[in-house]
Amino acid sequence: MCGIVAYVGKNNASSFLLRALEKLEYRGYDSAGIAVCKENKLNLIKKKGRINVLREALQGLSGFEGFTGIGHTRWATHGEPSDVNSHPHTGNSGKIAIVHNGIIENYMVLKNNLIKKGVNFSSETDSEVVAALIDSSYEGDIFEAVRRAIPSFEGSFALGILCSDFPDQIIAVKKESPLVLGFGDGENYIASDISAFVEDTRNICRLNENEMALIKADSVSFYNFKGEKINKNITKIDWNVGSSDKGGFEHFMMKEIMEQPSAIRETISPRISNGEIVLKSLKNFNEEYLKNVKKIFVIACGSSYHVGLASRFALEKLTKLPVEVELASEFRYRSPIVDETTLLIVISQSGETADSLAALREGKRRGAKVMAIVNVVGSSIASEADFVFYTWAGIEVAVATTKAYSSQLASTYLVALYVSKILKTVSESTFKNYLNYIELLPELVEKILLGKEKIYEIAKKYYQCDNVFFIGRGVDYAVCMEGSLKFKEISYIHSEAYAAGELKHGTISLIESGTLVIAVATDKRLFEKISSNIREVKARGAVCMAITIEPKKEEISYVANDVFFVSEIPEIFLPSLAVIPLQLFSYYSALLRGRDIDKPRNLAKSVTVE
Ligand code: F6R
Repeated sequence: MCGIVAYVGKNNASSFLLRALEKLEYRGYDSAGIAVCKENKLNLIKKKGRINVLREALQGLSGFEGFTGIGHTRWATHGEPSDVNSHPHTGNSGKIAIVHNGIIENYMVLKNNLIKKGVNFSSETDSEVVAALIDSSYEGDIFEAVRRAIPSFEGSFALGILCSDFPDQIIAVKKESPLVLGFGDGENYIASDISAFVEDTRNICRLNENEMALIKADSVSFYNFKGEKINKNITKIDWNVGSSDKGGFEHFMMKEIMEQPSAIRETISPRISNGEIVLKSLKNFNEEYLKNVKKIFVIACGSSYHVGLASRFALEKLTKLPVEVELASEFRYRSPIVDETTLLIVISQSGETADSLAALREGKRRGAKVMAIVNVVGSSIASEADFVFYTWAGIEVAVATTKAYSSQLASTYLVALYVSKILKTVSESTFKNYLNYIELLPELVEKILLGKEKIYEIAKKYYQCDNVFFIGRGVDYAVCMEGSLKFKEISYIHSEAYAAGELKHGTISLIESGTLVIAVATDKRLFEKISSNIREVKARGAVCMAITIEPKKEEISYVANDVFFVSEIPEIFLPSLAVIPLQLFSYYSALLRGRDIDKPRNLAKSVTVE
């Protein structure tokens, strides 16, 4: 989703802005632009399309050599992707330019009021209203103009603001959308995400809700929305942000698929010591708290939600507590039975997903304690949770998640087993046995990745299909949900995940000659049942690829056309293995179809609007 960057310092602002915007490309965008202040004049350029379009358009243009600037990648919400709807937006005076991430919910009311006062608008965006209102409040003091305008905006907004009368400063504002400041030597930065400037500085400070900052090359002052000065600490990030180059792979997605063994290792190793799970950072997540927990609620969106669905099996089996899993975007609009006896687990790679954040707040409002399983350190969800479990998967650049999914899943196993030990719901020997399997996961995933060529061969047979059904039962159904999402989002081929037993209650009418059915059949207890379901679809003309466990590979080859197998481990952990061939199949199908794998159309990595 939209990315913001800004620079003030001693070097050419535009070269930093372009480089930083490229680092934010992973968030997903459809247009980009920058504004640079040079000698009290704003110079602005914005283009629909990729950053290289902007880069090319900038070639030979003068006026962009200044030392202060703002930049933006836009993911369209209000108005189509176009040059005019792109950011930065300016007010009518031409003195003020802004970049915005978030949504101004009352923009129509504000816009109509401004139009009545004679203000002209050129775009369809909500963001232009921000520029227009600040512009109309401006009487020579830009900071004061911003401060006066802010209370009028409803919704979410991270802003970078530039004014040509103050060519040596930027104003940053944050409400509900992420914004982080970087501190260099005689130069300072703002960005939606640390990765934009981590090569330049590791000294950072995140703006909290309703905070703003006045940033110059050699000083930064922080304020609340009343304009009162506040103190904030600069922290040095000592964790590995991860490499954002492709490391020799054609796509980030393949690099990240291959990184899964090490990502899972990073998640679990620091938390296992002498045969015990040690969750040092989860202060107060102890017996005293857990003995009062009566229910676990898992909330997330997209693939993180699928982690929740898969984790339910481990959580229920181990903790013996009832577990509900729900989409964050739905949770808030019911009257969920959540109170102080509920442990709410919010799962999010980015830690900024607007629906998940809103659900977290709703859960807390109802009295629940919240555990966040998050990848991005210091993100909003991490900051607002009571207990934070970082997945430590490293930066994930491809829009379609793979290694973060695997790390999240491994995190939920550790949490489930940790809670079960405290609540004494598993025996000592079961605990040890399960912990051994968790420790084995990186190795077992590595083994699957060695067989990736086989999946490539299977993808070559089927990548031209128009419709794919993923079927499974129990924990395998949860894996199908993720497999189907991964497949459709990057290949643009229609697919659906179905609980195998449900197929004959309607959906089987869609099966015809040549329809591809991918059956996930790793749960031994349900093997006979899913085999029958495969026979049913094959009898109607479907072709079937099956994912199973090693001991069942021969048996299933009598019914399926293609078989890929993974090692046999307890079924509660099998999603970690079964998902890998599905990720590879999605990747290769998209590759063979020539898709933009790392940046699929219409998608954003960080979904900061509801
Ligand atoms: C799909 C994918 C998305 C995210 C979803 C939630 O490959 O990555 O479905 O899982 O947008 O994002 P986070 O985990 O950042 O809350």
